[in-house]
Amino acid sequence: MCGIVAYVGHREACPLILKGLRRLEYRGYDSAGLALLNGDGLKIYKKKGKVSDLEQELSGKDLHATIGIGHTRWATHGAPNDVNSHPHYSNDRRLAIIHNGIIENYATIKQNLVRKGHEFRSETDSEVLIQFIENIRKETGCSLEEAVRLALQEVVGAYAIVVISADDPTQLIAARKGSPLVIGVGDDEYFFASDATPIIEYTKDVVYLNDYEIAVVRDGALRIITLENAQTTPYIQKVELELEAIEKGGFDHFMMKEIFEQPRSIADSMRGRVRAEDGHLQLGGLRDYLDQLAASKRIVIVGCGTSWHAGLVAEYIFEELARIPVEVEYASEFRYRNPIIQERDIVIAISQSGETADTLAAIELAKSKGATIFGVCNVVGSSIARATHAGAYTHAGPEIGVASTKAFTAQVTVLTLMALAAALRAGTISDTLFRQLLAELERIPALVEKVLQDAEKVKEISYIFTYAKNFIYLGRGLNFPVALEGALKLKEISYIHAEGYPAAEMKHGPIALIDEDMPVVVIATKDSSYEKIVSNIQEVKARKGRVIAVVTEGDTLLPGMVDFVIEIPKVHEILVPLISVIPLQLLSYYIAVMRGRNVDQPRNLAKSVTVE
Ligand code: M6R
Repeated sequence: MCGIVAYVGHREACPLILKGLRRLEYRGYDSAGLALLNGDGLKIYKKKGKVSDLEQELSGKDLHATIGIGHTRWATHGAPNDVNSHPHYSNDRRLAIIHNGIIENYATIKQNLVRKGHEFRSETDSEVLIQFIENIRKETGCSLEEAVRLALQEVVGAYAIVVISADDPTQLIAARKGSPLVIGVGDDEYFFASDATPIIEYTKDVVYLNDYEIAVVRDGALRIITLENAQTTPYIQKVELELEAIEKGGFDHFMMKEIFEQPRSIADSMRGRVRAEDGHLQLGGLRDYLDQLAASKRIVIVGCGTSWHAGLVAEYIFEELARIPVEVEYASEFRYRNPIIQERDIVIAISQSGETADTLAAIELAKSKGATIFGVCNVVGSSIARATHAGAYTHAGPEIGVASTKAFTAQVTVLTLMALAAALRAGTISDTLFRQLLAELERIPALVEKVLQDAEKVKEISYIFTYAKNFIYLGRGLNFPVALEGALKLKEISYIHAEGYPAAEMKHGPIALIDEDMPVVVIATKDSSYEKIVSNIQEVKARKGRVIAVVTEGDTLLPGMVDFVIEIPKVHEILVPLISVIPLQLLSYYIAVMRGRNVDQPRNLAKSVTVE
């Protein structure tokens, strides 16, 4: 979703902001803009399209400035066009704002401002906010900082904002509620961004702004106040993120880099936590809560998209190993029901970004009902990680491609560790099985590597199906969520319609779709439901469907029955999703590339969905 970059200091602001906006491109956007303040005043440049379109617009202009604000917009209020792009001026053009989030009561505020003679150029809620700030300042004669504070007290909704004023070339004012904002602290210079990626090139010292806080940089000093006007001390922390981690490293796309990083990212998600040889498993972030988890009456898992799929995998694993009933909910549905949370219920929130608005709201709701919340997040210091009582980071490293790949396998790994830890504490797993699963987990990175070595084979199959119009994905048991995940991957980056189903459900409806033009991907590994899924494949073949089967190495039956076979190594049934999802990620990647799609930034999608 929208991205914020702002700078005040001694460097040239324009190239720094443009580079920062490029680093945030992965979040998804449809227009870009910036405002620069120099001797010629406060000037805004903005353009529908990509950062490269904005750069073209800027060429030949005098852009010298050491203070500026920049933005990539993902349209919510008003179409993606030049006018609705950010930054937005105040009426008198002496202030400008960039804004992420949604001001829900903007219409009422706008009506009042219109009555007072304000004119609006755009359809956005963000322009309403800057004019509101301007109006307060003019009516009360207060400082800009105070006007921002008073305006935000009236605002309903979510925001991360940065405001710049033509009256003070040393000042930037930022605030957040519900949308992330990080401040980089350099030598006599400050950086503001939606995440740390635009900042780490210059400084590793950052302050994560909290909800209801306002940061004021003026004359080289940073102060933080709350919406209630109380001073707080900025907490500067070191961000552990290296530049190489956010670059493509020789791959054509971030998604491909991230698929191929999985042997390492899965190992990282277990690093220091698992030692199979002596049966050691420890999740530091759960230490004080493990008894509570093991004794819980019910676990409710909330998440969205791929994270929800990881939750479905975890449902099988927790129930099988720890014998705790699990419900998996879309966060967006959970938050608008009146869910029943009972004593000894645990809520696990899963999120790669840690900023997903629906998941965050689900956590707040569950908290208000007295639940203990565990988080499984990738982004360290993210809003969800901070809103939970306990949890475990996935340590997958930055995921830039919009389509989640390594985040999924890291989430499943960490959730498996949580289930194993709970099962051991609850006494529902034998020592033998516990140790066997730890040992098999340690082998997973090498097995994923092996699957990746066969990527060319998946590429050949992808070529054959590049122009398919629909796909069906089938799986049973732990491979059912993998089927859902495979279908999601394909549709989001190739724009091919794809549906995932539990294989046995097919005969209740989807079988009507099967004919010679319908590719059916079946995850048919050798596990407890193997015979059943073989029957399901026969049902598809009897109707001339074209089957691509993901099978266990050494399967001699299915290669003679289906059209294409992708082999994966044998692992314990509980761990199969970590391996079986890999060829499906590759399949969607290759098909999308062959169709000429923008794999890393598919249309209409955002990496971090910070609006509901
Ligand atoms: O950051 P989160 O894990 O909370 O994001 C949830 C979904 O938006 C995300 O998984 C989305 O479905 C991905 N594009 C899937 O590839």
